[in-house]
Amino acid sequence: MNDFPIVNVGICGLGTVGQGVWKHISRSRAKLESRLGARLVLKRASVRDLTKKRSVRVAKSRLGDDPMAVAKDPELQIVCELIGGTTLAKDITLAALRMGKTVVSANKALVCEHGPEIFSAARQHGGHYFFEASVAGGIPIIKALREGLVANRFGRIYGILNGTCNYILTRMEREGLSYPIILKEAKALGYAEGNEALDVEGWDTAHKASILTYLAHGTWVPVKSMLVEGITELTQADIQYARENDYAIKLLAVIQRDLKTDALAVSVAPTLLSRAKVLANVNKVYNGVSVTGDVVGETLYIGLGAGQDATASAVISDIVDAIALLLRGNAPLPEPIEQNCPLNKPELIEGSYYFRLDVKDEPGVLAKIASVTSKSKVSIASVQQRPSPRKGAASLILTTHLSNEKAIRATVTNLSRLDAVLTAPLLLRIASFDD
Ligand SMILES: NC(=O)c1ccc[n+]([C@@H]2O[C@H](COP(=O)([O-])OP(=O)(O)OC[C@H]3O[C@@H](n4cnc5c(N)ncnc54)[C@H](OP(=O)(O)O)[C@@H]3O)[C@@H](O)[C@H]2O)c1
Repeated sequence: MNDFPIVNVGICGLGTVGQGVWKHISRSRAKLESRLGARLVLKRASVRDLTKKRSVRVAKSRLGDDPMAVAKDPELQIVCELIGGTTLAKDITLAALRMGKTVVSANKALVCEHGPEIFSAARQHGGHYFFEASVAGGIPIIKALREGLVANRFGRIYGILNGTCNYILTRMEREGLSYPIILKEAKALGYAEGNEALDVEGWDTAHKASILTYLAHGTWVPVKSMLVEGITELTQADIQYARENDYAIKLLAVIQRDLKTDALAVSVAPTLLSRAKVLANVNKVYNGVSVTGDVVGETLYIGLGAGQDATASAVISDIVDAIALLLRGNAPLPEPIEQNCPLNKPELIEGSYYFRLDVKDEPGVLAKIASVTSKSKVSIASVQQRPSPRKGAASLILTTHLSNEKAIRATVTNLSRLDAVLTAPLLLRIASFDD
């Protein structure tokens, strides 16, 4: 063991994830070292506040408050960026890569917003950038796409990529409570951030969808070019409809590729998913991803999408890969696997839809609604009337046959203009994924 080569690792950020990495490497160092044939030394770490109490013991001599000093330390071969955000994190990532180091990160926002610049710096200076923990926490989905499924072109990838939303939706379904009540509890339990918008409005899922799209199809899709909707407007009426019709409502990222034209469609939206689908039964803070390849067929991945231990598991796997790469040169395949599939405009995305709208409970309303939908060439598949909490109103739930976002958007706008429609219609997608 003493003859093993030494690999020095630095960790920028000892928060939730950083402390998890430190804890688990400290616990399983001997096992990792004997498998790697290397000594894995956690040489130094940085934090913002040196006085903060930590759950791991780090010698004073190894802890500082200057992440850039860690990034540029010539003795470190591997730097873990576990700070988060896209400013300081980007600076230290680029500084380390420009010195030819390997950087390991869990930062989806950074990969999504600055991936091309970061990958190019890694290539140019002979370093590497690993980011397994950035999508679906402990699930090795990036490794699966990059390595295990390399023989495939991917017609469809869809998944639950945000544990906070899945937790809220699961509790709405199981306990019949409203979205605001569960959100408040989720914050108290630490499952939702103080500022929850990134999660519940779908942007965190969109960041992860962007990374998966790049890995699977070689196209960077900025989140603003995607259709992104969150879960904030869902009510028990929607949950009840889903239950009665054998659906679950999940916030799904869907990445579709037409394998004939190569055109891509990427969306994030609350979706009615048939209970027969495995992912409809992935609950609480779990994530799940379905990847369909043209060679392998459908493959499924389920696991914890966040949290200290699950995320540390992915970061440590990247550190181990980085050490294997340093010692034995077995580099991962270069990206992108595919070349720049074109992105369809979001308005061309096709599917079936669900509308819920509160309307005046009076004769002739249905006829007015039917006239609006037929003008946009949207064909109604079913209509249900339910009691509304509003006096003198009824709740209507409509589902459609196959349509597209453009026609559906026009329908929503025109329905909102009707006197008889009392609130903005809520729109859900209905997944029609074939087996
Ligand atoms: N938490 C999860 O479950 C999870 C899951 C997947 C991915 N991730 C990603 O992992 C990364 C880290 O997340 P986290 O939850 O561990 O965050 P966190 O708990 O907020 O920890 C961030 C760490 O960075 C340090 N830091 C922040 N700003 C700094 C500054 N200006 N200068 C020096 N140090 C600074 C903090 O220092 P102090 O401790 O002194 O404040 C802290 O140690 C993020 O990119 C996140 O998106 C997290």
